[in-house]
Amino acid sequence: MKIAVFASGNGSNFQVLAEQFPNNVKFVFSDKPNAFVLKRAEALHIPRISFGLKEFPNKAAYEEEIAQNLETQQIDLIVLAGYMKIIGPTILNKYCGKIINIHPSLLPEFAGSPHAIEDSWQERTGLGVTVHYVDTGVDTGEIIAQRPVPYHDNLEKYEEKLHQIEHELYPEVVQKLIAEFEESGKQSAN
Ligand code: GAR
Repeated sequence: MKIAVFASGNGSNFQVLAEQFPNNVKFVFSDKPNAFVLKRAEALHIPRISFGLKEFPNKAAYEEEIAQNLETQQIDLIVLAGYMKIIGPTILNKYCGKIINIHPSLLPEFAGSPHAIEDSWQERTGLGVTVHYVDTGVDTGEIIAQRPVPYHDNLEKYEEKLHQIEHELYPEVVQKLIAEFEESGKQSAN
């Protein structure tokens, strides 16, 4: 199973995935040329692709360029790991059911929030992590796995624990999807 990871920022989830699945992660795409994720990829010798939406006349053209990279590399699964853009129809139509995302709350609580960690911590509800398929809505796709994160009265400590849980949960889900993909490949070869 060939995987592309999309990330806009720090890239800690990308890093654990690249370390655990070095033969599957084919490249990382970032819409932010200065994102730290690209430094992590360089250190891990994972190919990097980066360009921003502003470099294109519209979102469709931007996503068309991404889609071409996905097709060239024959990518089977897109893993969003802190990619802070909504996937539009240009990519979604081609990769429906093949895009997953991690969100730092127990969906549907705080769907669409770019600061779901702070929101759930402040309201003391929806504390946890969700991995889900991406559909045309924002954080509305089928849920694959969820894990609660215990409340801590210190936000930084809560956030630390949440990331630790993300770094366990996301590889578990990806491992399961790789196993299913390989199994379906074997069955269709028989
Ligand atoms: C993660 O906490 C992820 O759940 C969140 O961005 C962070 C990326 O961290 N994603 C969203 O908020 C998506 N709406 P990382 O760059 O260190 O992997």
